[in-house]
Amino acid sequence: MSLSQPHGGTLINRRNPDFQFEGFTKTVELDEIASSDLDLIGTGAYSPLSGFLTEVDYHSVVTTMRLSTGEPWTIPITLPTTEENAQDIAVGNFVKLVKDGVVYGVLEVSDIFTPDKEQEAELVYQTTDREHPGVKKLFERPNVYLGGTITLIKRRPLNEFSDYIYDPIETRQKFQERGWETVVGFQTRNPVHRAHEYIQKTALEIVDGLFLNPLVGETKSDDIPADVRLESYEVLLENYYAKEHVFLGVFTAAMRYAGPREAVFHAMVRKNFGCTHFIVGRDHAGVGNYYGTYDAQKIFSNFTLGELGITLLFFEHSFYCNKCDSMATPKTCPHDASHHMILSGTKVREKLRNGEQLPSTFSRPEVIDVLIAGMQKETVHL
Ligand code: ADX
Repeated sequence: MSLSQPHGGTLINRRNPDFQFEGFTKTVELDEIASSDLDLIGTGAYSPLSGFLTEVDYHSVVTTMRLSTGEPWTIPITLPTTEENAQDIAVGNFVKLVKDGVVYGVLEVSDIFTPDKEQEAELVYQTTDREHPGVKKLFERPNVYLGGTITLIKRRPLNEFSDYIYDPIETRQKFQERGWETVVGFQTRNPVHRAHEYIQKTALEIVDGLFLNPLVGETKSDDIPADVRLESYEVLLENYYAKEHVFLGVFTAAMRYAGPREAVFHAMVRKNFGCTHFIVGRDHAGVGNYYGTYDAQKIFSNFTLGELGITLLFFEHSFYCNKCDSMATPKTCPHDASHHMILSGTKVREKLRNGEQLPSTFSRPEVIDVLIAGMQKETVHL
């Protein structure tokens, strides 16, 4: 066995800190999503993408969940700009990609096109409801998309997480140094509770290592801030995990809340980081009631195992059962819901805001302490 092959066969590297851009006059302003996408394309996390989607690839991804070359790819990685700015740009131009006055990269423009956002929302998010945070964002972004190959010149300044930022080439090296041949990736955007720990550790029973990969890119405003989540992971690892079998690194992408489509995207990216396995539990990357509890598992049946190149580990809704006296799922527990420790997100938020401890059957006390302190410090709304 060895670590997974990158998606498409080759780990893309579009980094060139010495690239000369002084002669280029045209610019595109990057928002948070595009800025994180640029960095992730440049370092190969989005292999086989070497740039923002061209028109052909965009249509292919939106309508068939594949790139025009056939590889599974479910989320459109796009570079939106305003109609006004696009008027100055022509195919063949090199355009500076700028955020807060700093040039992070250059795009060689191959495509300039106007997307059908209603269609993008309907097919990618399964809704055009502007209350959906991903759809809301889609419509807030400018209306013209630029496609083409990028060069990544400067890395994003993400100082508070810098100790935990590893590029795919580095995670692969770290896994190899540890002698891991099989590694399971875990995506999360929420504070870690016993259910997460249970599915992570259950997966770890059959592989060599666990790659804990919390997403720290843009999330909706009521999600717990990434620095608090990261701290909750640190105390959890310190107290409850076998260190030689876990590696913690952050995923700097923005959250799309696209449920099933995002689950496939998450799996492909973790494959690029070297993972051989990936966990998909209940309502992965979901929000509100837009997706069925297991839709993010069912979507994988659209692809063959060979195309995916990573083994999916599906978990049912897990909880602590007082009668079993252990963590369980409907697959392993015969008791009714009155014995199960299940708290709604609203209840959890309310308790934490009041500085109340939650039962240790729901969350480790060390984690709760970090979350309560984080809520008080940042007036967080869970
Ligand atoms: S997500 O948006 O990143 O998916 P979250 O951090 O809550 O949200 O979930 C991380 C992973 O754990 C996802 O694969 C999700 O499906 C899974 N998960 C979360 N809670 C449970 C649970 N109670 N039972 C089973 N799987 C769960």
